[in-house]
Amino acid sequence: MAMVSPSLLAADFLRLDSEIEMINRSEADWLHLDVMDGVFVPNISFGFPVIEAVARACTKPLDVHFMIVHPENYIRQTARLGAMMMNVHYEACTHLHRTVQEIHDAGMKAGVTLNPTTPVVMLEDIIGQLDMVLLMSVNPGFGGQDFIENTIDKVGRLRRMIAESGSHALIEVDGGVQAETAPRLVEAGVDVLVSGSYVFKSPHPEEAIRHLRNLGRT
Ligand code: DX5
Ligand code: ZN
Repeated sequence: MAMVSPSLLAADFLRLDSEIEMINRSEADWLHLDVMDGVFVPNISFGFPVIEAVARACTKPLDVHFMIVHPENYIRQTARLGAMMMNVHYEACTHLHRTVQEIHDAGMKAGVTLNPTTPVVMLEDIIGQLDMVLLMSVNPGFGGQDFIENTIDKVGRLRRMIAESGSHALIEVDGGVQAETAPRLVEAGVDVLVSGSYVFKSPHPEEAIRHLRNLGRT
């Protein structure tokens, strides 16, 4: 059984109010928000004015994923909107320890995201301070891409590292999470599934969320 954090990137932006109402009614645990700057990733999504509107309407905790350079410049602004979790990329943070500390000081949970080819061992010296590790299972920047298979083994390696260190960090996976890949991820030990297209492009998004949430339940 895993928690589910649907990614708003795949929603119909002309109908954000009804998309958020669907999320509020659904069994989704969190709402995942993808912020892109056109520099760290080759795409631009949405920024604070949109997040602010979503935060007012959404009753689920916000799981914000920053695919931007210098995410440390936006910690206070993110906290002011009431975000629960701030995820920053390992590859975008020169002083990761300080950034994680500042996220905590601002009252949020701290997540660190790894690109598909960044090994989990890079987090060995900070895993004890993290609330979550977000493993990218596609190259960040776009929804609807194919799942990178290596992620399954990577989840196993991260699970072992977390157990050995006594850390309480959750494992979240993002990219290409759908009916075929999700059960294998849950079996490998993932705590939180991010899913964009599979949820929002489904004819029955609430059922898609329920399906993901009940995987592995005995
Ligand atoms: C990709 C984003 C993801 C994306 C996932 O850079 O971080 O959150 O929305 O979309 P799907 O589930 O369609 O792969
Ligand atoms: Zn994301």
